[in-house]
Amino acid sequence: MTPRPFRVDRRTEEYPGAFTLHLTAIEQPAPAFSPGQFNMLYAFGAGEVAISMSGRPQQLEGTTVHTIRTRGLVTAALARLQEGEQLGVRGPFGNGWPLPEAKGRELLLIAGGLGLAPLRPVIYHLLHQPRPRAIPNFRLFYGARRPGEMLYGTELQAWSHEMPVITTVDHGDSAWSGEVGVITTPLKRADFDAHNAVAFLCGPEAMMRFSIQMLLERGMPASAIYISMERNMKCGTGLCGHCQWGPNFVCKNGPVFCFADVQNWLGIHAL
Ligand SMILES: Cc1cc2nc3c(=O)[nH]c(=O)nc-3n(C[C@H](O)[C@H](O)[C@H](O)COP(=O)(O)OP(=O)(O)OC[C@H]3O[C@@H](n4cnc5c(N)ncnc54)[C@H](O)[C@@H]3O)c2cc1C
Ligand code: FES
Repeated sequence: MTPRPFRVDRRTEEYPGAFTLHLTAIEQPAPAFSPGQFNMLYAFGAGEVAISMSGRPQQLEGTTVHTIRTRGLVTAALARLQEGEQLGVRGPFGNGWPLPEAKGRELLLIAGGLGLAPLRPVIYHLLHQPRPRAIPNFRLFYGARRPGEMLYGTELQAWSHEMPVITTVDHGDSAWSGEVGVITTPLKRADFDAHNAVAFLCGPEAMMRFSIQMLLERGMPASAIYISMERNMKCGTGLCGHCQWGPNFVCKNGPVFCFADVQNWLGIHAL
């Protein structure tokens, strides 16, 4: 429960209002994590927030990486941190993405906006699998509001040489020659075997609901669809009840849930 001190080694601006912090543990190396898990980041004097791991699962030299969008008080305090300054870190918490479920099947990664951050460790894992690959087929569908609000632009380019990367934006600009519209459009026409595929989704809840609807229409069973949920968090360990969602605590039972298990709650506004 006690935050450990970490130092900001590098701070990268993703786009105005979103940034990535590369952190190093000051006292002991950052613990290993599974893709989909999160840390509680403590900005001294401001408070603590849940932020997903977005770096490599095989952490290099004890570093941990987080991509954050500035929303309220705590994330604004994190945004003000400069290289060399310190913050507190607790974690990793949560269950992570069920990668074993995708073995021998096609894995569809579907991300909206900042939702690419919790999926990036999955992409690193998939691209660095030993050969023959346990998960041979995978592709990324990524939708953002504007071209300038796409995360990890250079990496997206590099990944597109190693795996199918399908991007779309809500609003294009003069430099954008790609697809304009919601992510469900490329998802609808994509050629995949819905009965032998698994989908990992992360993004705004509305985007996840529409994408799930499309996957179900394509014939994917609800048991093959996994989503990462965000709820207000305090302890991160299943003690305080802040993150209760239906019968689950998002911090302990999630943040990744199988859609088949939570479909009754996903559609209920403000639950
Ligand atoms: C498992 C998980 C992973 C997350 N991963 C990321 C990530 O990688 N990057 C990122 O930018 N954000 C992530 N979030 C959302 C992030 O925790 C909230 O944006 C953040 O808590 C807002 O805090 P604030 O102090 O800036 O805003 P305020 O509005 O001042 O929030 C006050 C309190 O409300 C809570 N809160 C407000 N909005 C949310 C929200 N949407 N979700 C959860 N708690 C909220 C926080 O506990 C915070 O202490 C994640 C949330 C969860 C639950
Ligand atoms: S954050 Fe306290 S129970 Fe989940």
